[in-house]
Formats: sequence, C-alpha cells, structure tokens
Amino acid sequence: MDYFLTEEQLMLKEMVSKFSTEVVAPQAKETDETHQYPKEIINQASELGLLGIPYPSDYEGSDMDFVSYFLAIEEISRSCASTGVIISAHTSLCTDPIFRFGTDQQKQKYLPDLCSGRKLGCFGLTETDAGSDCGGTKTTAVKDGDHWVLNGSKIFITNGKEAEVAIIFAQTDPNAKKKTSGISAFILEKNTPGYKVGKVESKLGIHGSSTTEIILDNCRIPVDNLLGDLNKGFKVAMVTLDGGRLGIAAQALGIAKACIEESIKYAKDRVQFDQPIAKFQAIQWMIADMTTEYEASWLLTYRASMLKDKGKPYTQESAMAKLKASETATFCGRTAIQIFGGYGYTKDFPVERFYRDAKITEIYEGTSEIQRLVIASMMLAK
Ligand code: CAA
Repeated sequence: MDYFLTEEQLMLKEMVSKFSTEVVAPQAKETDETHQYPKEIINQASELGLLGIPYPSDYEGSDMDFVSYFLAIEEISRSCASTGVIISAHTSLCTDPIFRFGTDQQKQKYLPDLCSGRKLGCFGLTETDAGSDCGGTKTTAVKDGDHWVLNGSKIFITNGKEAEVAIIFAQTDPNAKKKTSGISAFILEKNTPGYKVGKVESKLGIHGSSTTEIILDNCRIPVDNLLGDLNKGFKVAMVTLDGGRLGIAAQALGIAKACIEESIKYAKDRVQFDQPIAKFQAIQWMIADMTTEYEASWLLTYRASMLKDKGKPYTQESAMAKLKASETATFCGRTAIQIFGGYGYTKDFPVERFYRDAKITEIYEGTSEIQRLVIASMMLAK
C-alpha cells in the first residue's frame, strides 16, 4: 500500500525497514529468550532519530508526521515487537503528552532528552484497582507549599525499569463530583526520592520490554511538574491514549506482517503429499484471510494517523484501528502456527513468539472490550 505514502514517508519506511532487517531481526530471538532490554538497539534507533519521529527539530525530534511514526513502529515490530512497544510507549505515552499539554518550560526541559532518546519515558495510569476503569485511581497528590507530594503505586508500566521520565496520574480532588474530574497529570523523574521501581512482571510475551510497578512513597515534586490543568488529568490520559492506541495498532500490524511473510516463505518450502503446501487451497485461504485482515487493519491505522496529522478528531478511528489490528495480529499468529504445523509450536521458528507477542496488543492501552465501548458510545451519541 505504498501508493498511499509521500516520498518522505516512503524514504523513512525504507530506512527503518533496512534497520529492522539488518539490526533488529538478528537480535530478536535472543531478546525474547534472555528477557533483556535491547539497549544497544534502542541506542542505534535513537541515533537514527526514531525516538522522536513526530516532533519538531527544535526539540531534537525528526520533524516528521504521525503516519511516518506508525510506519516506523510497524517496521520495527515486524522484527521485534518488544523493541516496537518500547519506542511506542516512550513516544506516544510520555513524549506526546508533554508536547501537547506541557508549558514552554516543561517542553524545553524534557523534550530534547526524550526525542533524542537520551532518556526513556513511561506512563503511569493503571493501578491494582484501576485498570479499564482508570478513573478510579487511588494514588494521591497533595500540595505542600511549592511541592506536590505523591503517594501510591502504579502497575503494568511499560518501560518502567528503564524510564527516567514518567507521566503519573494522581487524585488531586477526592471530593470531586465525578471521579474523573479529580485527577491530575504530573511529570516525574526517576531520581526523585520516594520514586521506586517495584515488581517486574514475568510475562507471556514482549520479553524485551519491561513491565513494572512504580511505587511513590512521599515523592515530592515541584509544583511546576503539574502537566496540564489541575484536575484535568483524565482528559490528558484519554487524549494521550487516543494516540497511544495507534502505536499499538502499528505494533500489531508489524507482528501480523511478520506472520504473513514467514507463512508464505514456509508454505512455498514445505513439501507434503509431493508438493509445497502452498499448492493446497486450505493454506491459500489462510494466506488470503491473513492478508485481507492485515490490509484492512493497515488502512484503518493509516486513516486514523492521517486524521491525527491533520488535527481532526480521531478517537473513534483510533479505537477501531487498535481493535482491528490487534485482533488481526493474534489471528495471524494463530494461523501462522497452523501453517507451520508442529514446527510452528516449537522455538525453532519465530511464529510462536509472534503469537505470544500478539496477545498483549488486545489488552494494553485499552482492551478490545474498551475499544468496542469507545466506538459504540461515539456511534450512539451521533
Ligand atoms: N478525548 C478527550 N476527552 C475524553 C476522551 C477522549 N478520547 N474520552 C473521554 N473523555 C472525557 C469525557 O468527555 C468526559 O469529560 P466530562 O467529564 O467533561 O464530560 C471525561 O473524559 C470522562 O469520560 P467518561 O465519563 O466517558 O469516563 P469513564 O470513566 O466512563 O471511562 C473509558 C471511559 C473510555 C472506559 C476510559 O476509562 C478508558 O479509556 N479506559 C481504558 C484505560 C486504558 O486504556 N488503560 C491503559 C493504560 S496504559 C497501558 O496500557 C500501559 C502501558 O504502559 C502500555
């Protein structure tokens, strides 16, 4: 579907595709097996400008658009979904809210380090009792002179172990009539006393990406670190997640594409009943369905990304892209294993990793059920 892309977007895609094939792919199996953060790859991606694609060069960004960003995440995730989500969570969930809601001073202070990849970012919204119902946050922020004092804990934080900058949501008005109207967003730095990385999750997939708890124990931050308006943090979270969901859609697209590429290669090589299995209609239909689902997902993601680039509303479109792309990724993972048969279930081939990595795309940054809820509520409100 390259014919939809501008010259600049095509060049970026080609450059990232080469990086993905030559640098990211050879390391992906080891990253999965060792559960190691791919530090060297993230450093190289930073040098290529991939940690700040859609932000101005004034902040050391790459001055490109959001479509380019989604193309890059897709290309990287095609080789390693862990690397894809590390960059996506960093960009969409930490850099983006500072860029959209930050004061000039906050942008000057944080964006150059984030866009250049000198520092990694994360986003702390989820809590033990506030997952899909993220308005139920129990973490508190209480003003004390020139500081806010934060107490509580956040869970399932992508990049939690490595991130040096975190966007944290906390309750600032426990008496608010509506619980979502008493939440504010803050920028926190890892080296702040009282900020601790807690439990590191052991997961089904995306092993190279850390998922941790963040504990805030009387964590004092300057008043200047309030992000956006007081008690308007829930909207900061929602607007941020609209963009974040496109990053996850792009990650899911990359996984789906990898499943299709590997399946076609294998189906042409694998001989059964005296012919390559690609000759069997059963396999052909699987390839046809995977490709059709992938292309539909790509188009939804492209449309939503274009709308974001044009500054138009895209909440529903983003939810649709994330819903479709994530379900496509798990479908493609499952189908690829079926095509590979017994070999697909072993660790000798990458499709079992793709399947494990795909599953989380239906869960994080809003489950498929939450995406359906967002889509339906917008349709019914029309
Ligand atoms: N943009 C702007 N404003 C929005 C909005 C959006 N997309 N969505 C909602 N709002 C506004 C509403 O208009 C409303 O404003 P008013 O109070 O002024 O009327 C306010 O926010 C509250 O909205 P709702 O009453 O609809 O809120 P709700 O409590 O019913 O929740 C929800 C809505 C869509 C279910 C929301 O809670 C949600 O998205 N939940 C899923 C959370 C999620 O995605 N978590 C993932 C965390 S990040 C992660 O996965 C980890 C990681 O590191 C990758």
